[in-house]
Amino acid sequence: MRKICVIASGGDGPGMNACAEAIFLAANANGMKVYAAVNGFDGLVEGAIMQLTRENCTGISCKSGCVFGCNRGPKMATHEGFKAAMATIKKYGFDCLVVMGGNGTLMGTGRFKNAGVNTLFIPGTIDNDVPGHKNSLGFASACESAVKLVDMLRATMETSERDHIVQLMGRNCNELALRVGEATFADIIDMEGARVTPDLVAKVFKANRAAGKRSNIMIMQERKGADVVSEKIEDAKFLEQVSQACGDPNIRMSVLGYLQRGADPTCFDRYLASQYGRAAVECVLSKTYGVGLYWDSGNVHTTNIPLSPIP
Ligand code: F6P
Repeated sequence: MRKICVIASGGDGPGMNACAEAIFLAANANGMKVYAAVNGFDGLVEGAIMQLTRENCTGISCKSGCVFGCNRGPKMATHEGFKAAMATIKKYGFDCLVVMGGNGTLMGTGRFKNAGVNTLFIPGTIDNDVPGHKNSLGFASACESAVKLVDMLRATMETSERDHIVQLMGRNCNELALRVGEATFADIIDMEGARVTPDLVAKVFKANRAAGKRSNIMIMQERKGADVVSEKIEDAKFLEQVSQACGDPNIRMSVLGYLQRGADPTCFDRYLASQYGRAAVECVLSKTYGVGLYWDSGNVHTTNIPLSPIP
């Protein structure tokens, strides 16, 4: 009986549970056993493995987050950790690891591929930033959630004639900011490669007000700093400079952050999840390993998983 181990790694994304359920259903229908590593690659390192069953897997598709845990897998990056993960794979006799995640996860999957493990990769990140892997799980849901929240902010800002800066996640990728900024008809979109200065913000806000607008919204992609505290300090400085340039002490910044990541999976993400889950099981059936899946123009396609050095 073939055995698959599902792993969710990196920042969780809406749609990961749905994908696990889809993998379970397709694999079960084909007589395979499905397991999950608890808390991402760390589960392999620690031998924390759970079997997915009808009981624990039915109905999880509508839940956000990841029911069996998901993290950035720091333990697997050490020589000892990687060795322990390999031992777990051997102990359970997994025929294939099906790994969901973003950029860092793709690299981690490449390590196991390099070590001779059968691997499949599914893009699962709200950032939608995995090279060669269009349409990651979670992006659509994060956008929907952000659009709803921006609409709410706009309602209260319009009422009280105030301007607002809304900060989104997305790491170094512009996709979230661009999609949400366009969808909410933001007055300014600030993102990597197109960062705006406080003076420019003031110019646009003032011109719009002079033309009769009651309120302005600026969408700001998070500006990654050395650490979380330095990021907050930079955000506060930027807000202060914008307030000064506008001559308006009432401008505020809202950081949507984890509200996007914890969003309910939308219809599109659940659809993607079932497509990816089924395609992954088809890959196992045809012994097509070492590839990443991506969805484009109605179909799931495969692309090579680049090899990464073994720690
Ligand atoms: O990669 C997903 C993501 O949510 C990014 O958009 C964000 O920059 C990062 O994770 C936040 O990471 P953490 O949860 O480790 O703070």
